[in-house]
Amino acid sequence: MTDLVGCRRDRDVAVITIDNPPVNALKAEVRAGLMAAIAAVQDDPDVAAVVIRCAGRTFVAGADISEFGKPPLAPLLPDVIRAVEESRKPVVAALHGTALGGGLEIALACHHRVAVPGTRMGLPEIRLGLIPGSGGTQRLPRLVGPDRAFAMVLTGDPIDAETALAEGLVDAIVADTEAAAVAFARTVAAHGAPVRTRDRTEKIAEAAAKPETREALVARHAPKADGREAPPAAVAALCAALTLPFDEGLARERALFVSLRDGDQSAAYRHLFAAEREAARLDLPAGVAARKPARAAVIGAGTMGAGIATCFANAGIPVTMVDVSPESLARGSETIRKTWAGAVARGKMTQAEMDRRLGLLATGTALADVAGSEVVVEAAIEEMTVKRDIFATLDTIVPDAVLATNTSYLDIDDIAQATTRPRQVVGLHFFSPAPVMKLVEVVRARETSPEVLATAVSLARTLGKTPVVVGVCHGFVGNRMLRVRSTEVERLLLAGALPQDIDGALTGFGFAMGPCAVGDLSGLDIAWRMRKAQGARAEIADRLCEAGRLGQKTGRGYFRYEPGSRTPLPDPEVEALIVATSQALGVARRRFSADEIVERLLLPMVNEGARILSEGIAQRAADIDVIWVNGYGFPAYRGGPMYWADRLGLAHVRDRLTAIAAETGEPSHAPAPLLVDLARAGAGFADAPRPGVTAN
Ligand code: 3HC
Repeated sequence: MTDLVGCRRDRDVAVITIDNPPVNALKAEVRAGLMAAIAAVQDDPDVAAVVIRCAGRTFVAGADISEFGKPPLAPLLPDVIRAVEESRKPVVAALHGTALGGGLEIALACHHRVAVPGTRMGLPEIRLGLIPGSGGTQRLPRLVGPDRAFAMVLTGDPIDAETALAEGLVDAIVADTEAAAVAFARTVAAHGAPVRTRDRTEKIAEAAAKPETREALVARHAPKADGREAPPAAVAALCAALTLPFDEGLARERALFVSLRDGDQSAAYRHLFAAEREAARLDLPAGVAARKPARAAVIGAGTMGAGIATCFANAGIPVTMVDVSPESLARGSETIRKTWAGAVARGKMTQAEMDRRLGLLATGTALADVAGSEVVVEAAIEEMTVKRDIFATLDTIVPDAVLATNTSYLDIDDIAQATTRPRQVVGLHFFSPAPVMKLVEVVRARETSPEVLATAVSLARTLGKTPVVVGVCHGFVGNRMLRVRSTEVERLLLAGALPQDIDGALTGFGFAMGPCAVGDLSGLDIAWRMRKAQGARAEIADRLCEAGRLGQKTGRGYFRYEPGSRTPLPDPEVEALIVATSQALGVARRRFSADEIVERLLLPMVNEGARILSEGIAQRAADIDVIWVNGYGFPAYRGGPMYWADRLGLAHVRDRLTAIAAETGEPSHAPAPLLVDLARAGAGFADAPRPGVTAN
């Protein structure tokens, strides 16, 4: 045994306790300790049964991700798990917290499983570009049947203790993982030799016998091909459980797991896993701690305001939504009610829970209604004078609250100056639809205090979001880079590409939607209005709007849409409009390959990312990756734009940007100084020096 795995006796039951904070990940010492503990009890005549449990906040949350990419150390997890399953004494896994990945795989190999209420069990490997690698795909179907097993492995979503009991994943829900689990183990010890999970074939018998059942499973659960390597591998491993003898199925799963673990996609997912956690960490001056606001208010009941209010109520925080217009307040409240009612209808939420959330939501038409709130998020229209007025008034109504703005573009320093306490003003830039999108850019204004910044980050986490701290500039990180891409879309259309070429290239790269379809979905008139306000023109986009092609809402935009359909269809009218525009502007058209389109759209964005980094607007390249993956649909399996550029090699990126700058005559495409320096040093963005964070 080791310091991380202890074994004590409770009369005739051996209690093995894993204690490797914070999440009891299965690093080599833990595997060795568990192996030794299981071996030690085999020949002990005084031991009738074994309990495996964990200290701390959770059962084992999986293999130790930080060991991936390094030479494997014995004992390997599959060997430990085999020893557990072959134990001559019945082994009971006593679960609490989150039993995930390799942790659940240990439990699956135990002869029984019990869980305390609130435990969540899952195989989330797919979210790391992996599949379970220690028998999860072989044993889970044997316990819960193939349908549930396919769902759990392919979505990575955990199930709760009650569902696990109903499906046969756990045998009992117990009061605690010590006394009650030991009592359970003592009972099963009296029932003779343990049954191995591998031998329990009744739940897979039908799918094993009938090819059509297997085909139906695959048709029901396999996601459509989207460039990810893990889902097809998961399907192959799960099918192996149904068609091959156990040991062969296990070997097939392991081979697929190892090839994914050592591949590029899983490395990219691991990068993001670490980056998301790093982004939420703040180096705070001693004595500074985040506040935990008990009451919130949201100003504005439009799409964003209502969405943000929903997030607060979802997290159990009472919230007052204020809008000067009773009509928009009613519309916003109705949107929220419909969101929850939809969840109830889909069986995702109980009616009682919906009623509870409705009870947390208050509304008002006067700013004075926010009195008593400890945080206020302003989501009114994007106009500086309106926002400054609101902030000046809030200053007096809630003199101690954190004042946040959801502005996408406006200068938060300017907004903060409308108050007497700019230190308490911060940006909380949510993405639409706010209840769904994970990303929140936490915008640190010039005077934002560390305490307020920490409060904003911690609040975003409480709302279930992925916060990334950014600095003030036009569009912050995400929209500033998006603008570069949008400009390039226009340039490529003029130079020879069509909307379907552009969208095809980016969906081929892994984006769920292309930029033209996204524009059609959100409405082309939004950017058109902004351009008009700034006296700017984007010839093709403007001509589309002038022709009444505003996107899906008018049935026509970059694409055309059949009534009632959201499928973008290429439109010869658009092609004619684009070709005519190129001619009118005297731009010679040529063909662009998909690879060239990807380069032309994404490398200038990376270049802007380099500028954002050197200006200190983002603190790390990985923060930019988190923003683009969580807010803009950059394919997670490519790790984000800066990580992707690092993989391409910055010398190559520099050379391609130089060529793009020459072809387009666009000076901003010349490689940014930081990129040039890093390329010269043979380094990547991941090695870029971090700007000093100064405490206000
Ligand atoms: N390996 C190593 N470190 C891990 C880890 C893991 N599997 N899971 C979490 N950690 C670390 C985190 O990096 C973080 O470290 P930090 O404090 O230095 O930033 C710390 O544990 C706490 O994690 P969170 O901040 O995420 O804590 P939460 O309480 O919010 O969430 C959790 C806990 C639900 C367990 C979440 O951490 C999680 O989902 N972890 C990943 C689980 C997972 O993917 N398991 C499968 C691994 S692959 C596998 O098992 C392969 C097998 O099939 C062979």
